[in-house]
Amino acid sequence: MNTLTDRVTKAPLNTTWMGPSLSGLGHYLPPTTITNHDLGKIVDTSDEWISSRTGIKSRRRAGALQATSDLAVEAAHGALAEANLAVEDIDLILLATATPDTPVPATASLVQEALGAHGAGAMDLNAGCSGFLYGLHTAGAFVRSGYSQNVLLIGAETLTRVTDYSDRQTCILFGDGAGACVVSNKGQMDVLYSGVGSDGSHTELIQIQAGGSRSPASADTVAAHQHFLQLDGKRVFKQAVRRMSEAANTALEATGLQASDVSWLIPHQANERIMSAVAEIVGIAVPQVVNDIAETGNTSAASVPIAMDRARQAGAFKDGDLIMLVAFGAGLTWACQILRYNES
Ligand code: UT7
Repeated sequence: MNTLTDRVTKAPLNTTWMGPSLSGLGHYLPPTTITNHDLGKIVDTSDEWISSRTGIKSRRRAGALQATSDLAVEAAHGALAEANLAVEDIDLILLATATPDTPVPATASLVQEALGAHGAGAMDLNAGCSGFLYGLHTAGAFVRSGYSQNVLLIGAETLTRVTDYSDRQTCILFGDGAGACVVSNKGQMDVLYSGVGSDGSHTELIQIQAGGSRSPASADTVAAHQHFLQLDGKRVFKQAVRRMSEAANTALEATGLQASDVSWLIPHQANERIMSAVAEIVGIAVPQVVNDIAETGNTSAASVPIAMDRARQAGAFKDGDLIMLVAFGAGLTWACQILRYNES
């Protein structure tokens, strides 16, 4: 089992920052909403149950003609505008997703074409709901090595396309959306710490069984609902709390920071109760937790950048704030970053 030992950065807080940094944020949520009441009409559930067990009131669904790349392009435009960069400035597009437009080609290539970013390399990355943080880890390494100047990092999902709307345990959770940023040497949010981890002995806890080389698509796999995302909710809940709190504590230990130094905790938006439990274990007060789940649900690799951008737009961050990102997902995977927000 890998542990959180691979640190891109462990920087002293009083030196001139040499990167990596986030230099823009953008997000996109499709306009169509699925409310808890809507779900109550198709499975045996209620607004009261979903709200109290997850914190979710509604989630978004991509339009019939929208695929993951379409959501990603919208978020990317926002990030590029915010970062004041032209598409020509991007030399790598990194797209974190578990719901690509198609298995081949990479969805990042479709995004590249749609943006007209012809000077950029493009590839996808799948680390489940930890995908955006894994992407930040990877983009940071590209920037620090000098291989890239400006990486366009996107987390984008159309989870409603792989959601089984006859399974009341999973269909209440997932929504569609995308979040993006640019990772470069100089920007608004310095990455002070980055760590990733994985444990492949629990792959069955979150999975789409068929459609790959192990079990190619067939009439039988379709009939058996094996192209939908399956979740062992209770066991995932426990693993999510354990892994995210361990990842957060490892980050604090590595940087010498205290939980009280953290201005904002932005966890993967999986379940309000998971987020509160992680905050309590790490010692971060609930008002410091960015909780954006009510209107978005669980958007997997898109959840952290969407929550972060919405908090930024609401004016939550101020100069010098330390922001901790933490995520957990299929794999199992987990990751944590500590960012410092610079106003200018
Ligand atoms: O993104 C990373 C992956 N995802 C997650 O991190 C999700 C992690 N898991 C969860 O968020 C929660 O486990 C769920 C929201 C999926 C389920 O909540 P829970 O509090 O763990 O419920 P439970 O599975 O313990 O079920 C309690 C009861 C059961 O009924 P009985 O056996 O007590 O009679 C379920 O059948 O609630 C029932 N139930 C529901 N009732 C109404 C399960 N889903 C529903 C539902 N509406 N949608």
